[in-house]
Amino acid sequence: MSEHDCNAIEIAPGVHWIGALDPGLRSFDMILRTANGTTYNAYAVRGSDGVAIIDTVKAEFADEFFARLAHVARLEEIRVIVLNHLEPDHTGALPELLRRAPQARLIISKRAPAMLKALLKPTDDALDVEVVDTGDEVSLGDRRLRFLNTPYLHWPDTQCTYLVEQQVLFSGDVFGCHHCDLRLFNDRVGEFRFSFDYYYAHIMRPFKSHVRDALKLIEPLPLTLIAPAHGPILRERPRRYVTRYRELSSSGEGFDRPFEANDQPASLIVFYLSAYGSTTRMAEAVQAGAEAVPGLRVSLYDLEGSEIAPFIDLIEEADALAFGSPTVNGDAVKPIWDLLSSLGGISLRGKIGAAFGSYGWSGEAVPMIEDRLRGLKMRVPVSGLRLQLTPTAAELDACRAFGRQIAEAMTGTSNTSVSAERVIDFAELSP
Ligand code: FEO
Repeated sequence: MSEHDCNAIEIAPGVHWIGALDPGLRSFDMILRTANGTTYNAYAVRGSDGVAIIDTVKAEFADEFFARLAHVARLEEIRVIVLNHLEPDHTGALPELLRRAPQARLIISKRAPAMLKALLKPTDDALDVEVVDTGDEVSLGDRRLRFLNTPYLHWPDTQCTYLVEQQVLFSGDVFGCHHCDLRLFNDRVGEFRFSFDYYYAHIMRPFKSHVRDALKLIEPLPLTLIAPAHGPILRERPRRYVTRYRELSSSGEGFDRPFEANDQPASLIVFYLSAYGSTTRMAEAVQAGAEAVPGLRVSLYDLEGSEIAPFIDLIEEADALAFGSPTVNGDAVKPIWDLLSSLGGISLRGKIGAAFGSYGWSGEAVPMIEDRLRGLKMRVPVSGLRLQLTPTAAELDACRAFGRQIAEAMTGTSNTSVSAERVIDFAELSP
């Protein structure tokens, strides 16, 4: 990502996201699959009496973090650095930040000092920190940061930080998920409810009594926005995520009950795998083309980074599904078939389906997937799109048009024929 792309994003008056995007990650901490990567969210809060930094990013993304920080604050303005959690995905840039802003006060929870020493390995014992507990506050002049001690979510050190005047909760890993999407806000990104539940199940569920203790502190708070350390920023109806944690941490648990799904726009989910990146580029262009049509929520997932089970409910709720696969040995690749053969238990009748993919010399995957979609009683109103090896600019334009046509078929706004006679197939254009 170039420095030009590294703008800070204002999430509330005087509060900026200065984190980093890691769209290529497919496995986190070796236990979590990540179908479209993750984000490391860090924030800058400006008050009349200085700037607070809340969390940092994984070490290899430090340049991105400092570039975004430079857009919103000078280093000498930083008065405090709040660490909600010391795991290295949030403290990787801390040593460099301490070097660049040595005047800043470091604020951590009461269980964090020993861990911080182990993390930073200071050469002397004089690590200057301020330890805070529930209800303690730090003033930035015209605004205050108030702390909530929320241990074991999911390490002993974890805490949340509440910006009192703006009613913003910086929640650390709590309410986070591994979902990377440039659109950043929960009302703009692709579908991520399964990521939210999946993250809870793998990270927070072992500590559910601590989740319930934390909710006692969080539920009474007025909330205009939750700013977690991973994944989308929750500005639209933030309280429903608190409610979801209450459901999931209650006895009986809520995994058998779907995440509240009302008011959802029409949903197109694009699944893909790629051997050398060509089908990835096609998938991204299909997504971009579909997003140009208003009234849709378009989601993009790399099946290499995911298990299948979390997607089944989403697929059942979706209005359209597009599958991108390269052709390998005259066939679509196995994860695509694994997914398509797992859908027998849900009804797909009448949903829109589509297929696309890059190929070397034959390109059978696309028509084979289309046959399977028809076998599942789906409609395939836009003929499949396949192209040979590396996509050209014109072929990526065709991918965007393909995505737009799928979206128009979903919304009923198509003004061009997308019947079976309309074939956008570079294989057949080849000599
Ligand atoms: Fe995102 Fe527990 O670190």
